[in-house]
Amino acid sequence: MIKVLFVCLGNICRSPMAEFIFKNMLSQKGLTDKFEIASAATESYNEISHTGMHYMAKKTLKSMNVPYTEHYSRCIRPQDYQHFDYILAMDDSNIEDIQSIVGKDIKNKIHRLLDFTTQPRNIKDPWYTGNFDETYWDIIEGCETFLKYLKL
Ligand code: 4NP
Repeated sequence: MIKVLFVCLGNICRSPMAEFIFKNMLSQKGLTDKFEIASAATESYNEISHTGMHYMAKKTLKSMNVPYTEHYSRCIRPQDYQHFDYILAMDDSNIEDIQSIVGKDIKNKIHRLLDFTTQPRNIKDPWYTGNFDETYWDIIEGCETFLKYLKL
């Protein structure tokens, strides 16, 4: 079982999109049983206010025929570092924030999702850019190359 936690700032846009896009990819390849997939935030305010996925994130997934279930933001906890094999962040600031919560990455589990691609980079936050399509395609690229990296 490979355990993957996608992480972003709010866990209402990028990381839940990555969670459902990756789950869909695994399902299409018959790999669902080999993985545990979840997502989390680095800030706790959306967990406290019990905020669900952003309506534009849902709209974008729906338009691309990516199934999703009800999702509410939850903040990453120190024990997540022990539990998950890969902690995949969306940008550099997520990495700093994750490390301030879970401590030093002694097992080299924390990466940016797009670090597996030929053009390592941040995934811009659509909460600020408003561009959920760009987020969708960046996540597709990241998930496809991550899956290739795993050589399953
Ligand atoms: P995300 O985007 O990190 O991709 O989920 C954000 C969502 C909400 C907030 C910031 C970023 N916020 O400030 O509530």
